[in-house]
Amino acid sequence: MTRVQMTVDGQACDDDVEPRLLLVHYLRDVLGKTGTNVGCDTSNCGACTVHLDGDSVKSCTVLTVQADGAEVATIEGLAQPPTDGDATSGWHPLQKAFHAEHGLQCGYCTPGMIMSSMDLLGRNPSPSEEDVRHGLEGNLCRCTGYVNIVRSVLRAAAELRGETVGDADEGGIGEADVVSDPEHEEQLENLEVAP
Ligand code: FES
Ligand code: FES
Repeated sequence: MTRVQMTVDGQACDDDVEPRLLLVHYLRDVLGKTGTNVGCDTSNCGACTVHLDGDSVKSCTVLTVQADGAEVATIEGLAQPPTDGDATSGWHPLQKAFHAEHGLQCGYCTPGMIMSSMDLLGRNPSPSEEDVRHGLEGNLCRCTGYVNIVRSVLRAAAELRGETVGDADEGGIGEADVVSDPEHEEQLENLEVAP
């Protein structure tokens, strides 16, 4: 066993772990942070994406011991406490945008999509549709066809820039004319899903 210490979603963690334990299993099985998902055995799907010292990583490709001393952020640490009786009031703008633009169906890919999107918007506050697609090419979604996911990220980007975006039902970010992308579709066909 090896001793690891790290900060996860602002909380100090100190545990003995097997040297081969993957970070995603440490988060889920040791810390109980099951908001971070496992979607494949091949490091392709991105469902396990978290931030390691501010950069998005697929946590199934990182050993827990490699995160020793690091700051880890997961989807579970994103929302702030609600400011009123409405639980959604503390949501991160990306969480609100995925809700507003219907950027999820089953939701399995969503934690990874949001963590990758947050990294993307941190580096590029005004992404084009192409920038968003490129930034999310390591994240696969089996349900949505990506159109509403791209709209969600564009909406969050606009809102984080202080711009007002209309309701999705009235067009929302739809003027971006987002359409489906055959490359992402092909990635999906080749995806091996974890049992
Ligand atoms: S579970 Fe990590 S990339 Fe699929
Ligand atoms: S919403 Fe189901 S996998 Fe993306």
